[in-house]
This record gives sequence, structure tokens and C-alpha cells, in this order.
Amino acid sequence: MIKEKIIAAYEEMAEGFNSMIDHKPHNAYYDRPNTLSLIGEVEGKSILDAACGPGKYAEILMAKGAAVTGFDISPRMVQLAKERNKNKGTFFVHDLGEPLIKLESQTYDIVLCALAMHYLEDWTLAIKEFHRVLKPNGHLVISVEHPFFEYTYFKSTKYFEIEPVKCNWSGFGKPIEVNSYRRPLHECIVPLTNNGFYIDQLMEPKPVPEFEKLDPKHFKELNEFPAFMCIKAIKRSE
Ligand SMILES: C[S@@+](CC[C@H](N)C(=O)[O-])C[C@H]1O[C@@H](n2cnc3c(N)ncnc32)[C@H](O)[C@@H]1O
Repeated sequence: MIKEKIIAAYEEMAEGFNSMIDHKPHNAYYDRPNTLSLIGEVEGKSILDAACGPGKYAEILMAKGAAVTGFDISPRMVQLAKERNKNKGTFFVHDLGEPLIKLESQTYDIVLCALAMHYLEDWTLAIKEFHRVLKPNGHLVISVEHPFFEYTYFKSTKYFEIEPVKCNWSGFGKPIEVNSYRRPLHECIVPLTNNGFYIDQLMEPKPVPEFEKLDPKHFKELNEFPAFMCIKAIKRSE
């Protein structure tokens, strides 16, 4: 099954991912600065970091005064998130595709899900759960692989379908096959607007200047065509 392959891939690359996440250009100088700009001020806020990986976002958000709960499907990633954040924050193993039974309704000011929704074939349950655990008017901020980038990168001929895809990553140690689902743009928007959110901002991010020093080729490419997309959605009042 694809889910088992995704877990196995992240278990295997967890150490490499953790050791590189602070400065890996696509994360540190492309995804994070743009996604964090949509999150805004966090002091005193309670944040759920869904698919938290090794807890880098949690580290940044807690340093800015937020209280963070994080979860990830990879037990090794959760362990690394705990180690990175010492005794701060709460981290547990959980699958985005399952109900968040441990979490009370209307608990969080912000839900963040960075670079992980593309591991779900169907977003509906996860979005409904994000909606349930958010306080009224709470914010959901997600970053995903850009649908137009994926369509060309995976040489798809079926734009309107949600398709399983795979590629080899070599950026976090030895090359490893990573499975995910590519989807059309409307499949990134309709699950939000049909499940109690309105879209506040949609960003096609550009890399920040630090990226250029580490990886000038991709810096140029990302200034010409986006690889990621960031969305801020707000929980509608009933
Ligand atoms: C690209 S990493 C992003 C990690 C973190 N959000 C960040 O940006 O630093 C994707 C993460 O999603 C997690 N993941 C994949 N499928 C998941 C699922 N169904 N439920 C929860 N986490 C999942 C992986 O284990 C991995 O840690």
C-alpha cells in the first residue's frame, strides 16, 4: 500500500531530514519563510502542527511564544521532534487520514500542515478534523506541491484526476523512492471551501535571497515557476 511505502520512506530518511532541515534550501529558504508569513504573529497562540516531521516549525513557533502540539505518521520523526524541542511542546504519532480523537474540539488558534497534504489521496477527513479542532475564526495554513508544477514534473496526461505518483529524492542522504498523490488545483481548494473554510490568501511563493547562495540553479527556476503553493484558510462562523 502507498501509505506503508510513505511511512517506510520517512522512517528511513528521518535522520538525514532532521540533520539538513535547518538549512535545506527548499525548506529553509522557500517553504518556511513563505508559510510562516501567512501564519503571522503567534505569541500566546495555540498551534497544531500536523505532519510535524522533526519539529523544525514547532521549534520556530515555540521560540516566538506559541504553544505547539505536533503529530506525524513516522515514529522516528516524532522522536526527533521531541529531541529537538527537549521538554517543550507535545508530540505524538498519528495519521492525518484518521480522526484526531485525542484532541478536543475548538482548541487551537492555528493549524499548520506544511508539505504533507499531498500524501493523502482524499483530503476531506483531515480538513474536517482541522475545522473541528480550530477555535471559531481560527486559521488553517497549508503548503503543498504546486498542482501545475506536479502536472509537468510527473508528465501527467490526466490533469483532472488525483493520481498516485512517485519520484526519487536524493536531497536527504541516499536516494529514496517517495510516493504521493498529485491533484488538480480545484482539489486543493474545494475540500476547504466545502468543509467550513474560506480562502483568505493563496500564495505562489518565491525563494528568499539566502536560497541563491546554496542552490543558484533552483533559485533561478523557482523565480520562473513555482514548485509549492501556500494557502491560508479561515474557519467560517456557523
Ligand atoms: C516533507 S515532510 C514535512 C515535515 C514538516 N511539516 C516540515 O515542513 O518540516 C512530510 C512529513 O509528512 C509526514 N506524513 C506523511 N504522510 C503522513 C500522514 N498520513 N499522516 C501524518 N504525517 C504524514 C512524513 O512522515 C513527514 O514527516
